[in-house]
Parts: sequence; C-alpha cells; structure tokens
Amino acid sequence: MVWWSPGLLLALLVGSSWGKLEVGFYRKSCPGAEEIVRSVVGEAAASDPTTAAALLRLHFHDCIIQGCEGSVLIFRPDGKQENMAFGNEGLRGFDVIEKAKSQLEAACPGVVSCSDILSLAARDSILLSNGPRYDVPTGRRDGRVSNISDGDNLPDVNDSAAVLRAKFAQKGLSDRDLVLLSAAHTIGTAACFFMNDRLYNFRGSGAPDPSISFLFLPALMATCPRGGDPDARLPIDGSAASEFTFDDHILWNIAGGAAVLQSDAALYGDPSTRAIIDSYLRHRGFAVDGGFAGDFAAAMVRMGQIGALTGSQGEIRRVCSSFN
Ligand code: HEM
Repeated sequence: MVWWSPGLLLALLVGSSWGKLEVGFYRKSCPGAEEIVRSVVGEAAASDPTTAAALLRLHFHDCIIQGCEGSVLIFRPDGKQENMAFGNEGLRGFDVIEKAKSQLEAACPGVVSCSDILSLAARDSILLSNGPRYDVPTGRRDGRVSNISDGDNLPDVNDSAAVLRAKFAQKGLSDRDLVLLSAAHTIGTAACFFMNDRLYNFRGSGAPDPSISFLFLPALMATCPRGGDPDARLPIDGSAASEFTFDDHILWNIAGGAAVLQSDAALYGDPSTRAIIDSYLRHRGFAVDGGFAGDFAAAMVRMGQIGALTGSQGEIRRVCSSFN
C-alpha cells in the first residue's frame, strides 16, 4: 500500500531543504543513486524479509550516536569501533549497505555518501513494509571517527521515560519524536537477551515488570524462559503476523500492557508520552494526513538531520566499512 496525501506532500515540500541537505541532492551528480539503493534493498528484502527492520534500526543507531554520518558502519582493525558498543548488539544489514555502495561507486565514483545510503535504505525499508512513502533530504557526508566509547550513551531498553526523553532531547528530538520513532518497533524482532531483566528481575525486584499485562506475560516467558537461549527472537509488536508490516499495533500493544521492550512500555508510564500515544489511538488515527503514518515519516526526516555533515566536512568514503 502506498501512502501519499496532499498534507504529507505539503509537509515534505515545506521541509524539503534542511541546512544543506536537500531532496534530490544527487539529481545531477548521480541520477540513478536512489534507484540503485532501492533495488539493492528490494533484492535483499526479497531474499530475507528481516532485512527491512535491520536497515531501519541501523539508520537510527547511526544517527543517535554522533549524528547521521555513517560512523556505525566502520570496522576498525583493532575492533574498537562504535558498532561494538553494548547497545549496538544485534545490528545487521551492513552487507546490504556495502553492496549498494559498491554499485554506486561503479556508477558514480566518490559521489554518494554511506550516511545517505543508510537514510535512503531506511526509507525504502519502511515503504517495503507497507509504511508511508516520503522524500529523504540527502547530501550528508561521512564522518572520520568511530569509537566504541561513543556508544556508551545509547538509549537503553532499561532506561526510564525521563532518561529516554533526555537522550532524544540532546539530539533535538521531542517527546513526540520519541514516541513516533520508538514505534518503528512495529516491524522487526528482539532477542531474549534484551528481555531477561524485564521478565525475571525487573529493577532488581526478582519479579517481572508489573506493567506487563497478565494476559501477555505467559507468552513472553514461554518464548524467553529463565536461562533459555538469549538469541531466541520474538516480534517486537507482539504478533508474528505483523512482524513485517508497518502498522500501529505497536501503539495498541504499549497501551494494553503488551509491549515487548521495556523502553516502549516505559513510554506509557509517563504522562506526556502516554498522552501522545493515546492521541494517536483515540483521535489522530493511522492516516498519513495528521495521523501516525504521516507523523512517523516526518519524524524520520527530522531524525535524519541529526549531526549531518555537509559541504566540505568529512569525506565520501570509497567503502562504507573503512575511512578513506
Ligand atoms: C527509544 C529507544 C530505543 C531503544 C531502547 C531500542 C531498543 C531496541 C532493542 C533492544 C531492539 C532489539 C535488538 C535485537 O535484539 O536485535 C530493537 C530493535 C529494533 N529497533 Fe529499536 N530501540 C529504540 C528506538 C528505536 C528507533 C528510534 C528506531 C528507528 C527509528 C528503532 C528501530 C528498531 C527496529 C526496526 C528494530 C528491529 C531490528 C531487527 O529486527 O533486526 N528503534 N530496538
């Protein structure tokens, strides 16, 4: 399903030039750039449907650390790069970005940044999951720094709403952005590794998180038993049927005590973020025009501006996994 509306178009046109980022930045310098990314992402998702979620998460983890400058893609010879930080556990999709990069280098050498590939790939992943279609301002350049310690302050599943709010605010993102972007968990899965404390020792209590609905708790515990396989995975929006589909089940689940991740559940325990969730469920709905889908797309565009390098800053990497 494709989501377009006059409201979303207008919002995206008004916001189509961000600093030096602009929609269609590669129109002249590499006209096929967006199509190349789209086709590589499409092929990867066709052979492994979990790719879309992986690429969406990868873009977030790039942006939230030092900004959207591709530092999460770096692999250093000493292994002490950003993507080794604890909160980056389970990041995937590096090979898809690298494949797009090699095709882009063949078509237009030295033109398209890895950070732009990440933002385009996230956009394409959302659309492939039946989410909203939106334009991505591009023109980012790639950073020259990637340290494991830079990932120390990543948002964590065990963070309270207040801490999550502070971490997002530090990057210029509002409470509404926090809710909307967390709802990216409408697609994808989480490892039981991230569930242990929540299910068996919530805040050191030796008991489960009391905000989990008693109707949902047995299913969670069955998939992630105490001492079970930490790599076992479960859909984050609670239903295998909608693991690959962009919808608003995640918001309904959060409101109903059936959030999988503690960080999502925490958003319903805070009056401000709770009111935002309720506003989508009660009034604004899913629509592109003023509803969850359209607002989510706009939040993705805002997230994509964080710390973007432009002009003569940084570099355009030849390969995404190493500095030039
Ligand atoms: C608010 C703070 C956030 C926290 C604490 C958080 C935490 C997590 C955790 C623990 C997982 C499971 C990872 C795994 O087991 O592989 C996950 C998965 C995921 N996250 Fe988040 N997340 C947050 C925000 C976001 C945002 C803002 C986005 C995108 C805009 C996002 C997109 C995803 C996606 C798509 C997945 C599924 C990945 C997959 O299936 O491989 N998350 N997140």
